[in-house]
Amino acid sequence: MKTEPLVLGIETSCDETGVGVVRGHTLLADALASSVDEHARFGGVVPEVASRAHLEAMVPAVDRALSDAGVRLSDVDAIAVTAGPGLTGALLVGVAAAKAYAIAAGKPLYGVNHLAAHVAVDTLEHGPLPEPAVALLVSGGHSSLLRVDSLVSGIRPLGATIDDAAGEAFDKVARLLGMPFPGGPPIDRAAREGQLTITFPRGLTGPRDQAEHRFDFSFSGLKTAVARWVEARERSGEPVPVNDVARSFQEAVCDVLTAKAVDACLSSGIGTLVIGGGVAANSRLRALAEERCAKHGIAVRVPRPKLCTDNGAMVAALGAHLVAAGAAPSTLDIPADSAMPVTLVTR
Ligand code: KG4
Ligand code: ZN
Repeated sequence: MKTEPLVLGIETSCDETGVGVVRGHTLLADALASSVDEHARFGGVVPEVASRAHLEAMVPAVDRALSDAGVRLSDVDAIAVTAGPGLTGALLVGVAAAKAYAIAAGKPLYGVNHLAAHVAVDTLEHGPLPEPAVALLVSGGHSSLLRVDSLVSGIRPLGATIDDAAGEAFDKVARLLGMPFPGGPPIDRAAREGQLTITFPRGLTGPRDQAEHRFDFSFSGLKTAVARWVEARERSGEPVPVNDVARSFQEAVCDVLTAKAVDACLSSGIGTLVIGGGVAANSRLRALAEERCAKHGIAVRVPRPKLCTDNGAMVAALGAHLVAAGAAPSTLDIPADSAMPVTLVTR
């Protein structure tokens, strides 16, 4: 009997140095080192700081992942790495490390797409993904709706944000409410104590957007609307009801994300929705997606929060899927591609 592929996955597209080990659909290790604290005082990820942190964290993270999984580098069937999209300098560290490990151990290398990996990670929690599926990916760097006909070769964008990513909106609104970075978790917590008292705008949901931007998102107008509302309050000398603002803002984001995701499923007759990315950790997004999908008989798959945010296991999961499907490995001269299109699952 052929055993399932054992794959080491390396992720460095943003501020998390992630190294995962996966056998087939089974997670064996998920080592993570984050430089998020080093970026907090800047209110966003500083690329040079992230790259240096990856360089320092890489070898210890690989050693830890292998030891947690109880395997040696010589045991793995392949090495997978995020080739893009992401921050160029950050990606370069992971790609260079993966090439070095692949050459040293004589293993095939798979340079994979970060967005496809966010979708593939769900197989570690819920098993093989029914294809086709619709994927909603929402994080600090990306917000997109994808049609997944095949995790190996067939991912098509249905729509994406035309300005800020959903997580970026959480981070910016948190900042103007005086909350720390990253802003998603504190807004999620504050919203639980707040009331839905303010109706903030839902970007790209008007009748005219239906034609051109049906599956696209826009969050920059929402962020400005929250800023104006808070400023007006402050000018009038009244206290800002932080929890109510957080709840009303969060509702506007989750309403649009889930409405468009359900629309994408219904309009294409697809019965499975996968949600991934850091914002998928949001409690209201998870609840509203469940509620709206249940109404239409759509199955929702959201991995546990630790697998939603950037990690190495997602890269290993996609790598294992590619190896099992017999996909050709990458050549050793693959670049780090900061703008890698989602239609390219491997480089
Ligand atoms: O996927 P991720 O770890 O990294 C990127 O690729 O960006 O996502 C980070 C983003 C941040 O913007 C953070 O504020 C957001 O995910 N986030 C959340 C929550 N937890 C993290 N947003 C809303 N609610 C949360 N509970
Ligand atoms: Zn990501």
